Amino acid sequence: MRCLWRNACLATLDGATPWGLVGRGAILTEGERIVWVGADTALPALPGADAPLEHDLAGALVTPGLIDCHTHLVYAGDRGAEFERRLQGASYEDLARAGGGIRATVAATRAADDETLYRAARERAVALMADGVTTLEIKSGYGLSEAGEARLLGTARRLGRELPLTVRTTCLAAHALPVEYAGRADAYIDDVCAWLAALQREQLVDAVDAFCDRIGFTPAQVQRLFSAARALGLPVKLHAEQLSDQGGAALAAGFGALSCDHLEYLSAAGVAALARAGTVAVLLPGAYYFLGAARPPPVAALRAAGVPLAVATDHNPGSSPVLSLVLMLNMACVLFGLTPEEALRGTTVHAARALGLGDRGRLAPGLRADFVVWDLDHPLALVSRVGHRPCRRVVCGGRERP
Ligand code: NIG
Ligand code: FE
Repeated sequence: MRCLWRNACLATLDGATPWGLVGRGAILTEGERIVWVGADTALPALPGADAPLEHDLAGALVTPGLIDCHTHLVYAGDRGAEFERRLQGASYEDLARAGGGIRATVAATRAADDETLYRAARERAVALMADGVTTLEIKSGYGLSEAGEARLLGTARRLGRELPLTVRTTCLAAHALPVEYAGRADAYIDDVCAWLAALQREQLVDAVDAFCDRIGFTPAQVQRLFSAARALGLPVKLHAEQLSDQGGAALAAGFGALSCDHLEYLSAAGVAALARAGTVAVLLPGAYYFLGAARPPPVAALRAAGVPLAVATDHNPGSSPVLSLVLMLNMACVLFGLTPEEALRGTTVHAARALGLGDRGRLAPGLRADFVVWDLDHPLALVSRVGHRPCRRVVCGGRERP
């Protein structure tokens, strides 16, 4: 089926003009794809017999579908009590070392049945979708056993089957050391390396991630994990330099990582390594805000080095219980100094790249017909407001969501 969406303010994010803006524009879709984008007045003649279904958008803003390229969406339990303890002075690291943090969520997740886990994750996915998200990355990392990680990744795959959006899965078994491996981190990493082949065979994993930090895993352990991923042809990503500089970004860049995420403590050498490798820097203003972090990532240096900047929610129960990617657009500007256009590119063009997806993130012929109609008339309005819910209509793979 062909559809013509006309009389829109298009932020195509394609080409060199600001926002790739087309003031009075049209998009023609056929099946799952965009076949034509341009000014209404330049629309080619469309033969009557084959006339597409037409939608007049009355000047509304249209952007590519938003891509949340970093979330930990599948978990059970609540960490509100930890939030309160942090307000009283405890740090995220203190709580983790005392057995809370990620491990508290692992315990709650292991105790939850499949359906409870699925329903909670689905509710979160639906909230993100209502904010314009059409592609969602979901990490495991609260199972920390072969079966537990497979269950979380399988839950993520089910969301992708049952909801109108694309889900990409990332195995984050190297998120924290499970209690049953206390004092045996190297043995745990050996086991995680061995799990990857089966997870891949069951088509549960699109990429491999790890948490490289004082309360996570060492660079040497990450290196072993990434070598195992590389041997299987799985792309890698890394939680790097969030709480301290471990040199994780340079290590990941050496493996041609799709992305390095967080990066508050990234060094100049780390910036240069990301630039050389073409690795995307995924900025997570929600975690920075929610943890009251001490320093922002080195955005000016990343920009100067030409590193692509993506922006995501990092949704998780401990460091970023955020369910609005639109809010992250604003926070990326106010907290990290991105320009409004960089922020929007960070949740579209560069977020697609952080997931290794070349078929989306812009409005251009040949790409997937994933786009959002906003109750706004310019992309600046999308980024410059706080707490609004301007998403009106979403087209995903050429079909309008009910
Ligand atoms: O991206 N830093 C590691 N992982 C998550 C937090 C997970 C949690 O606290 O449950 C993050 O911030
Ligand atoms: Fe994360």
